[in-house]
Amino acid sequence: MSEKNNNFKIRTAVLTISDKGSRGVRKDLSGPVLKEMMEDIGSKIVYEQIIADEKEEIKKALIKIADQKIADLILTTGGTGFAERDITPEATLEVIKKEVPGIPEKIRADTISITPLAALSRARAGIRDKTLIINFPGSPKAVRECLQAVIDILPHAVKILKGEITEHQPNHKN
Ligand code: MTE
Repeated sequence: MSEKNNNFKIRTAVLTISDKGSRGVRKDLSGPVLKEMMEDIGSKIVYEQIIADEKEEIKKALIKIADQKIADLILTTGGTGFAERDITPEATLEVIKKEVPGIPEKIRADTISITPLAALSRARAGIRDKTLIINFPGSPKAVRECLQAVIDILPHAVKILKGEITEHQPNHKN
């Protein structure tokens, strides 16, 4: 594996998708979990926003962050379930250019033993240019479990996307 920059820091944006959160009726507890866990692995939180469950609003934020190169990684929390207004996966699918099914697959595979309700999240992940977007469910408990399932592979994923890793050795671990 050839790495260009050992000081590479993932720039992370955290979007909380919640009608109640956006109106200030419910305190956002899940965004802070994502932020804390990412900071713990050395990532810098460069953007955070609470957005209502409105497809166009979600798309607008995702496109802005990716196209203005504000963040390398966008983590969303909320709006992935079966409620009538849950629309985060659909908004995500409309802005990504390549889907990354392995990330939600690993999340569900690793956490289904904690709760079978993990199967009820329709979360998706994908790439828009040089930004990786990953959906997470809305509760702080779910967010912690789900990010835990993929956090170790995120630095490698983002480095490849940014061209920081240019070739692989067959036996690399990270
Ligand atoms: N995944 C894990 N690992 N742990 C959880 O507690 N909660 C589930 C699911 N995924 C959960 C989980 C529940 S109860 C729902 S309804 C869906 O995520 C969707 O959540 P959302 O609508 O808040 O995005």
